[in-house]
Amino acid sequence: MKHLVLTAALLLAGTVEAQQAADTVAPEGAGAGGFEEMGGAVAAALDAKAAGRPVEAAEWMVAAANPHAVKAGADVLARGGTAADALVAVQVMLGLVEPQSSGLGGGAFLVWYEAATGEVTTLDGRETAPLAVTPRLFQDAEGEPLKFFDAVVGGRSVGTPGTPALLAEVHARWGSQDWASLLQPAQELARAGFAVSPRLAGLVAGDAERLRSSDATAAYFLPGGAPVSAGTVLKNPDYAATLETFAAQGAAAFYGGSIGRDIVATVQGAEGNPGVLSEVDLAIYRVKERPAVCPPYREYQVCGMGPPSSGAVAVGQILGALEGHDLSSGPLDPEVRRLMGDAGRLAFADRGRYLADSDFVPVPVSGLIDPAYMAERAKVLETDRSLESVAPGNPTFDHALNWADDESIELPSTSHISIVDAAGNVASMTTTIENAFGSRLMTNGFLLNNELTDFSFRSHRDGVPVANRAEPGKRPRSSMAPTIVLRDGQPVLAVGSPGGSRIIGYVVQAIVGVIDWGLDVQQATAVAHAVNRFGAYDLEEGTEAVTLEAPLTAMGFEVNTRALTSGLHLIGIGEGLTGGADPRREGIVLGE
Ligand code: GLY
Repeated sequence: MKHLVLTAALLLAGTVEAQQAADTVAPEGAGAGGFEEMGGAVAAALDAKAAGRPVEAAEWMVAAANPHAVKAGADVLARGGTAADALVAVQVMLGLVEPQSSGLGGGAFLVWYEAATGEVTTLDGRETAPLAVTPRLFQDAEGEPLKFFDAVVGGRSVGTPGTPALLAEVHARWGSQDWASLLQPAQELARAGFAVSPRLAGLVAGDAERLRSSDATAAYFLPGGAPVSAGTVLKNPDYAATLETFAAQGAAAFYGGSIGRDIVATVQGAEGNPGVLSEVDLAIYRVKERPAVCPPYREYQVCGMGPPSSGAVAVGQILGALEGHDLSSGPLDPEVRRLMGDAGRLAFADRGRYLADSDFVPVPVSGLIDPAYMAERAKVLETDRSLESVAPGNPTFDHALNWADDESIELPSTSHISIVDAAGNVASMTTTIENAFGSRLMTNGFLLNNELTDFSFRSHRDGVPVANRAEPGKRPRSSMAPTIVLRDGQPVLAVGSPGGSRIIGYVVQAIVGVIDWGLDVQQATAVAHAVNRFGAYDLEEGTEAVTLEAPLTAMGFEVNTRALTSGLHLIGIGEGLTGGADPRREGIVLGE
């Protein structure tokens, strides 16, 4: 037990430096960013967000983290494209205007509901460890974990990107529009230039030293040596050329072509911290279809991404532990927060022990989300105090499960896209390059990920291996939780968020907000956050969540107050569509 508490303390201590960097930008209000000048539907969407109103529509809807990207998706949907077509247009635009969070150098997970069949499919476009890595990837000569940013910055942290392959796969399976036409708007804006948003400018300023570590990255984000400022028109002709090649050659340009060769050269040539990614790693990359993980919650099925993501399992476990409790008194009731917080701790204890890439270690997914297991585990919540200690449980399994607890650091970056098309198809995709600005390496106009730092830095503990240790060809564990909630087999909600390992808490709160607190989708994005992962309770500073500090402390919780910059994008699906965009970021919702 002591061991687990110590692990939690180490994890939290290890995150401080990184967390401070990630939180340097205060949440901006709705409308910030000069996006009003885009006019029309965008201005109306900004107004709705500022007023705290959901956007309503009858036919189709798209919600994402930047108005340019949402507009690109909306234009595709308006001309009859599918949610898959719109997803491609949104992602390639995000790679231009929100380059710090996701892009062609990263990876993503998609949850897809197909209206014609009623089936939920999940696609894994996660970055993958090069064949030449070893479990000691992030350790020094003595086997001690590297400092976080010593691991992140440079080539060592770069996994084989999955996003280009995922976009091509999504389009091949479910797209209806001409591929090149979906890349065209981002290509044009890259050439014409876009106004740098306050959020991007703030993040560049806060990360300037690390961005200087690579010449190409510095030249783009710090032209003339100074960080780009908000409102500066930034052109990215290299990205336009990349999209032109992607349009002509498809994903082959990345997994065997000239762009792939440039990625490898950039990673292997990174000064001071080169990586081992090779052209073979790119050539063997595959998008993987995985079984959807759909644990029950009340009369709903909460469908999400299984391993290598811990998202759906952890979200399902937290909801499973809450199932027997009445949460209707709302987010400011300390008793509701006690239950949610300790349910989070129970789920994170299992996550740290068992969750990893299931192609490499047997992950007891069905045992972990078995309602009987979750109910048994939730019995410890029958108290009025914070749990003194939390340990992993013993889910039903069919393989040996002798793993040590994980030690990895995950920071808030990432982006979430929710889309419903006129045919009723639903896409919920969370996409990332991991840390803000990823590895800080840039090639062909896009940033390369640092996703490999989502592996545990410790490969073993007391001689026992960690399930989520780095291994050749393995995919690092994720917290991304793109989710589609169904009722009687029909989709009722698409939801997801960025936020590192806090994604899980953000998504749980949004689902509870809609189902238990009766909130509309915009209100559900805006609820003041209280998130508990490893033991300490994080309360969102400057919000009414701080009123929970005294009662939660009296219950025995350790409490921190901090910025909690989720980026929730929700679409409610019923008689019509309703959309909500997180007021903490720049995203909007458009629909018709
Ligand atoms: N790197 C963010 C995540 O995969 O959870």
